[in-house]
Amino acid sequence: MDIDIKNIPTHVAIIMDGNGRWAKERGLERVYGHANGVASVRKAIKASLDMGVKYLTLYAFSQENWNRPAAEVEALMQLMVSNMKLELPSFLEQGVRFRYIGNREALSDEVREEFDYCERETAHCDKMTLVIAVSYSAQEELALAARKIARRAVRGEINVEDIDIKMMEGCLYTSDFPMVDLMIRTSGEIRISNFLLWQIAYAELYFTDLYWPDFDEKEYEKAVKYYASRERRFGKTSEQIKQEKTLV
Ligand code: IPE
Ligand code: IPE
Ligand code: MG
Repeated sequence: MDIDIKNIPTHVAIIMDGNGRWAKERGLERVYGHANGVASVRKAIKASLDMGVKYLTLYAFSQENWNRPAAEVEALMQLMVSNMKLELPSFLEQGVRFRYIGNREALSDEVREEFDYCERETAHCDKMTLVIAVSYSAQEELALAARKIARRAVRGEINVEDIDIKMMEGCLYTSDFPMVDLMIRTSGEIRISNFLLWQIAYAELYFTDLYWPDFDEKEYEKAVKYYASRERRFGKTSEQIKQEKTLV
């Protein structure tokens, strides 16, 4: 692989979009698109391990996705449960620590119990962390953080002046994960759809027209190469960044 190892993103987040259109183009029901998207998930995990990406966050189901037809929602939930069971041995074998973020209370007991089990079983794995966003809304996550902090202030545990970026980050679902370095969205839509609004503050964004079931290791590598070619300035000038690089 000809990617500069120093420029590998630590945290990649993917909006896995286009399953429905992929199926429709083949004259199939939308759920076939979701089922075929599972192979791309496996490929993304494998490619992350191969390239040394330490955190991979996948948007599997948004809070807004609850508004889809009940049969599609049910099929997606069943797909997640069955694949979680299926993939657990390979997570353990590959050293993949599993975590999930989102509104856990909105999930059925079956889904929550399966995800909780997988979290517990893989807690010791240390090659990479796979985070699944399910029943997830970034706006809800931020509102939740605001409620947590307000409660502390009301109880007199903190002063309002103490509220800063670090405290906010500590109150997000992602409190023990780093900020996102690279965000990928498939299917040609150029939007964020309520995903990780805080955590992408300085992420590089990569959009591809490919539908999620067509996204493979090669495409992932392309996105990482794009990332590696960017100069991340974090508000500084290009000259400053170049100078810092020569000092390292
Ligand atoms: C993404 O594919 C999967 C989920 C949102 C669960 P879509 O189902 O949104 O596919 P399109 O966008 O309709 O093609
Ligand atoms: C975003 O895809 C959510 C996931 C990929 C899980 P959607 O297909 O739901 O997004 P919108 O509604 O078209 O923006
Ligand atoms: Mg979509």
